[in-house]
Amino acid sequence: MIDVRLEHLYSQLGQDEIDSSMTKLEECHTLLEDGTGPGSEFTGWLRLHQRMEPVVGTIKKAAQRLAEQSDVVLIIGIGGSYLGAKAALEALRPYFSKDGPEIVFIGHHLSGEYIADLCRYLEDKSFSINVISKSGTTTEPAVAFRTFKTLLEKRYGEKEAARRIVATTDAHKGALRELAKAKGYETFEVPDDVGGRYSVLSAVGLLPLAIGGIDVDAMLKGAKNASERYQERSWANPVYKYVLARQALYHKGKTIEMFVHYEPKLHFLAEWWKQLFGESEGKDGKGLFVASAGFTTDLHSLGQYIQDGQRCLFETVLNIKNPVSDFEVPFDRDDLDGLNYLSNRKYSEITQKAMEATLLAHEDGGAPNIVIDVERLDAYALGHLFYFYELSCALSGYMLGVNPFDQPGVEAYKKNMFALLGKPGFEELGDRIKERIKKKTR
Ligand code: PA5
Repeated sequence: MIDVRLEHLYSQLGQDEIDSSMTKLEECHTLLEDGTGPGSEFTGWLRLHQRMEPVVGTIKKAAQRLAEQSDVVLIIGIGGSYLGAKAALEALRPYFSKDGPEIVFIGHHLSGEYIADLCRYLEDKSFSINVISKSGTTTEPAVAFRTFKTLLEKRYGEKEAARRIVATTDAHKGALRELAKAKGYETFEVPDDVGGRYSVLSAVGLLPLAIGGIDVDAMLKGAKNASERYQERSWANPVYKYVLARQALYHKGKTIEMFVHYEPKLHFLAEWWKQLFGESEGKDGKGLFVASAGFTTDLHSLGQYIQDGQRCLFETVLNIKNPVSDFEVPFDRDDLDGLNYLSNRKYSEITQKAMEATLLAHEDGGAPNIVIDVERLDAYALGHLFYFYELSCALSGYMLGVNPFDQPGVEAYKKNMFALLGKPGFEELGDRIKERIKKKTR
């Protein structure tokens, strides 16, 4: 299903350098499986595919209800409570699909302009809400939820509004859990032992995906298959190849990893991947900086830097070998544009050649490449791929010596923001940082 190829990095790195960390990786794998590594209380994602089986039926029923009663379903969440579902919906649905309700993601920014436009857009449309927040207290989704809950209650009355809201949150604690209890919303749990960015295969991802008509059973089966396949502790395991190669490149001074794809619908999969690896590895002054590019579009922008700029990056190309649909370039008798050498050739063939050409050019320029081949991207394969990346990320974090399941750095901006906005309890910090800002702007 997934193959990892390294032939485009050997000009920079010897196999012995890659192999040298094999024993350490095996040890890290044992720590993860035995639950004895840092953050082990958040490794429940390793078996989510089994744990979700009894709940999937209820998720699908809730999804059907929301879809049937709505022109638009608002999915409210940020970070791990947003990116997995967004990535999968974009990756798996046709580009211009009109099937089912429109799905609009909000609560992942604080743009008042966006909210005002959305309120106008909803004026003549029926809508429902799935609000997702593990903590139940994150500011961006909480403010968005308050806004659209108010709109929904004004439009339908409190009772009907409650039927149009489903909350996905912690089983016991948090403001959202309290609110859901008080108002009688249907709820789904974010398991205690699963952190946001590892939660796409829980109700966090599965409910929005079921609303969007995605085959969530197939997705869970794909993850199950991955969990069995990637147990193996050897070079034959694609997870091992990926983790060892990126680790060796990091120690060679390649401190930026770019996720590269050739399909615009994979843009948000790259965003999900960036959050997963960035938030998991970037701590204690360590970790690869993760970036992304969509080719061939970005070959006409970032391509220059990748080929010729600072030699501090490598690329990991996600190569989907067979597209869901394809098209041929038409023949033109006059050939005034000189393109008849491409006529009757498929777009996928042209893309493949662009990829092969780019791999060689970038390697020659000193930007090595890892290639991850996937036969075809359907729900099963994406479930498998999610698991592949999650396992690779957790093992990479352990190899680096960090806890890949926490995100202490995210708190810094939040504290300052609460202080500046006058949140009760933050008065003293507020005074101090207002003074600092005053000094800076003098
Ligand atoms: O990966 C994570 O844990 C974070 O990105 C969270 O998902 C994000 O901060 C949102 O948190 P919550 O679901 O508690 O609103």
